[in-house]
Amino acid sequence: MCGIVGYVGQADACEVLLNGLRRLEYRGYDSAGLAFFADGAVQVVRSVGKVAQLAERVAAEWPAAVRARATAGIAHTRWATHGAPTEMNAHPHADESGRIFLVHNGIIENYASLRRQMEGRGHHFLSQTDTEVLAHLVGECYRGHLFEAVAQALKHVEGTYGIAVFTAEHPGEIVVARNGSPLLIGVGTGATLVASDASAIISHTRQVIYLQDGDVAVVRADGVDVRNLDQIPVDRAVSHIDWDDTAVEKGGHAHFMLKEIFEQPESLQNTIRGRVDLRAGCALLAGLNLTPREMAEVNRLVLVACGTSLYAGMTGQYAIEDLAGIPTDTEQAAEFRYRNPILGPDSMVVAVSQSGETADTLAAVREAQRKGALVAGVCNVVGSTIAREAGRGVYLHAGPEIGVASTKAFTSQVLVLLLLALALGRGRRLSREEGIKLCQEINAVPALVQRVLAQDGAIAALAGKLVAAQSAFFIGRGVLYPAAMEGALKLKEISYIHAEGYHAAELKHGPIALLDAQTPVVALLLDVPGRDKTMGNVQECLARHAPVIAIATEGDTEVAALVPDCLLVPRTGTYTAPILAVVALQLLAYHVARLRGCPIDQPRNLAKSVTVE
Ligand code: G6P
Repeated sequence: MCGIVGYVGQADACEVLLNGLRRLEYRGYDSAGLAFFADGAVQVVRSVGKVAQLAERVAAEWPAAVRARATAGIAHTRWATHGAPTEMNAHPHADESGRIFLVHNGIIENYASLRRQMEGRGHHFLSQTDTEVLAHLVGECYRGHLFEAVAQALKHVEGTYGIAVFTAEHPGEIVVARNGSPLLIGVGTGATLVASDASAIISHTRQVIYLQDGDVAVVRADGVDVRNLDQIPVDRAVSHIDWDDTAVEKGGHAHFMLKEIFEQPESLQNTIRGRVDLRAGCALLAGLNLTPREMAEVNRLVLVACGTSLYAGMTGQYAIEDLAGIPTDTEQAAEFRYRNPILGPDSMVVAVSQSGETADTLAAVREAQRKGALVAGVCNVVGSTIAREAGRGVYLHAGPEIGVASTKAFTSQVLVLLLLALALGRGRRLSREEGIKLCQEINAVPALVQRVLAQDGAIAALAGKLVAAQSAFFIGRGVLYPAAMEGALKLKEISYIHAEGYHAAELKHGPIALLDAQTPVVALLLDVPGRDKTMGNVQECLARHAPVIAIATEGDTEVAALVPDCLLVPRTGTYTAPILAVVALQLLAYHVARLRGCPIDQPRNLAKSVTVE
């Protein structure tokens, strides 16, 4: 969604800001803008469309010599919520006096009443945004001291925000604040940066301060002063980011998504490193911070998540129920939080979120904490809000995921949930021998994924069967049911083909009416419980002339004989099979989207991190 970059330093602020925005493009946005200070004044440039268009406008309107003298500025990519993606609605927004400039991520919930009140006091608004209202509010509170004005204005605001505020009257400082929208400060040499996401500033510094909700900070080239809204200083540690900018570059691949699909043998290895105790047949998950007794007392589990993470949760649920014998539900996070869920001290809620910032998942975490449940996070982004607020959990260690369509995070999430099932299971009904067998299976996954990736050419050929479709179905049973939904999600996200993931048995209860020779069905027929029944469902599809693509286990001649368009993946255990199936489906979706000429890394309307409800 929206992205923020800020810079206070010596020179070349425009270049730093534009490069930072380029690094945030993956989050999804529809307009962009920046404000920079040069030659005694703040200049604002905004544009609909991509950062490249903004950069062209900046270059056309400001000579290189002026841009080179820019010492500070703020910049933004906007994903439209209040008001269409127009230049007028793009950030930065100014206050009534035109002196104060502000960029904002999040939503000001009481903006309509604030706007009405200010209109009553003679304010004129140029946009339809909630952000402009906040800019005007800061302007009203401004008496020559920007930090005080921001702190005071925010006391009147309800909602979520990450903001950066800037004025020509104090060109050496940016005031930032956060409540519910991530914001971090990069501490450089002779320059300080601000960003909503570390990838925007990683090429300048790996030393960062993660702001917490309620923090307001003044950022200067030579230091940072963090306070709360009452202006009392608070102590925030400087953290070191342990990845560098090569992790956010394409490394020779045509798209980030492809790079991330091919990274999976390595990202999965990083996920399991140090966590598999082969001798004891157990998983070591130190971040859960639970004693064996506390683990044994958990008698209900709820996995909450959105999007791809929801399907990872549903996949993990099979393993947890079967291996640990704990009743487990997977819930869409927004549904969970508004449903008054029944939870107790012996319930554990696991929030599964790549970004650790998804608004609904975060709200579910808070609701579960209010109800006294144990809460754990399964996140990829270190230091993210869900990871911090959960206070316990398991990091994926999959590395930065830039492609909007989640790939390597999904497979690591499934593996982490399997490790959790193993850890919980060993305290209950799973024997050491069974545990050891599972450990061996988990350790083998990265190499097996490599073998699926080696079939990229064959998968690209199968993609030809889907490329002209208007609609497609993905079917599976048991552990492969959520895999089917994830496969369909990948296809619709990046190729814009309407696709539905269905339980193979459910197809005949309605959707079969849609099947014809133009509606392909992708059937997951790997050798796990349910395969034989799904074979029957495939027959039903073939009888309606639907083109079928099958994914099955190596050596399964029966599937290969029935379905000529069949991809065979290595044999593995029941709970690791969805990982291999989904890797194949990721490549299938990728190749279909490539053949259709779609913008794979930045699909229309989608955002990487959904920080609004
Ligand atoms: C967005 C992304 C999806 C992601 C979902 C949940 O919709 O486009 O790829 O699965 O959010 O995100 P999370 O960061 O919580 O896993």
